[in-house]
Amino acid sequence: MIVLGVDIGGSGIKGALVDTEKGELVSERIRIETPQPATPEAVAKTLKDLVSRFDYSGPVGCGFPATVHHGTAFTAANIDSTWINTPAERLFTETTGLDCYVLNDADAAGIAEVEFGAGRNVPGVVMMITIGTGLGSAIFVDGKLFPNTELGHLILNDDIAEHYCSDSARQRHDLSWKKWGKRFNKYLHRLEFLFNPDLIILGGGASKSFEKFSEKIDVRTKVVTAETLNTAGIIGAALHAGRCSDAGIKPNMAPCVSAEPEEKA
Ligand code: BGC
Repeated sequence: MIVLGVDIGGSGIKGALVDTEKGELVSERIRIETPQPATPEAVAKTLKDLVSRFDYSGPVGCGFPATVHHGTAFTAANIDSTWINTPAERLFTETTGLDCYVLNDADAAGIAEVEFGAGRNVPGVVMMITIGTGLGSAIFVDGKLFPNTELGHLILNDDIAEHYCSDSARQRHDLSWKKWGKRFNKYLHRLEFLFNPDLIILGGGASKSFEKFSEKIDVRTKVVTAETLNTAGIIGAALHAGRCSDAGIKPNMAPCVSAEPEEKA
């Protein structure tokens, strides 16, 4: 099935058509600047522009940087505060005229990695952490998502973890990769203590520089970088929308956990 996947971020809104059986992009990836201020109406209009660049009329999956519970956004750590309580699925569906399914961006990236990347066929507890403007998290148990975990907001060193060790914190405090790596290592230790994962997958911008800070990481858990790289969010959003639509679920009725992943051969 070919599904349009979109990754909505603070600086860019990126979309591409995805082959959901292969987990691959089958069109070019189009990026439009996120409008500022990124109010719900402005973002919805930009999403409509993006969608219209594709010759496409099926369901649309949208990863979004907030808690998204049954289609409604409930937090806004790194986006315009007017998003809180916005029925994002309804707004996007009405604005674009296509069925839009919205989920947390890190959950989307995790879905892609568990289905097609580093987390494929890994039993037990798999965590995906996306390191960008914020810190996003997704937890899977035997391949099944526990949605909206928001572990970037744990308290670490008397600070919100994502203020202490996201990629934007690294840039804001002008930290070397090694200094930042020490901070991030503390964060991973906290996650390990609380969740005892079997695998931690790192995604987002900073994960591309893993070799610059990996020597500072000394958790016992295996830590790897995402295989689907910067397309994870798009691929996972497309998978979620494809599964919801296949299951006959309409936007705003969509569960946060999309229908069961297909049995793997
Ligand atoms: C948000 C999360 C999001 C993460 C990555 C955090 O600030 O609270 O919902 O997944 O940033 O974008």
